[in-house]
Amino acid sequence: MPPISLVVNGRTVSVAVDGDMPLLDVLRNHLGLTGTKFGCGLEQCGCCMVLIDGRPEKSCGKAVSTLAGKEILTIEGLGTPAHPHPLQQAFLDEQAGQCGYCLAGILISAKALLDSNPRPLRRQIAEALDENICRCGSHIRILRAVERAAEQMSQEGVSQ
Ligand code: FES
Ligand code: FES
Repeated sequence: MPPISLVVNGRTVSVAVDGDMPLLDVLRNHLGLTGTKFGCGLEQCGCCMVLIDGRPEKSCGKAVSTLAGKEILTIEGLGTPAHPHPLQQAFLDEQAGQCGYCLAGILISAKALLDSNPRPLRRQIAEALDENICRCGSHIRILRAVERAAEQMSQEGVSQ
């Protein structure tokens, strides 16, 4: 099987896997990027959300063969513990996570939103996160955290 090239978090990688393999499995099992989570495997929970060429997509339902040359951003590419993205910092500040299992997907969806709409209304944030399920019920804190990040980024003129 010919290797498939992807650009993951700014780095070009080549993977020799079955082309039908979901991107999620490639990220977790072949590239060691375990921040993106498996929830349902049925494109219904949003745990596995990544950006593909800037658009939020569920990686559990994307065959890797369809993604050659695409730019993929996972939670590992968003920020680091030493230099968190403003969204990550805001989620910490608002204590928006409980178990945390949903958060990688939610942060990715929120990044896509703020990239296209830096000052969203609460209704627009809720719509953007509509495909991300949080089983812990942290929804209100999550909404507040996205608002907080948007405010901070606009004050600082941050574009990340
Ligand atoms: S694991 Fe992909 S949407 Fe649930
Ligand atoms: S914080 Fe537990 S599922 Fe969202």
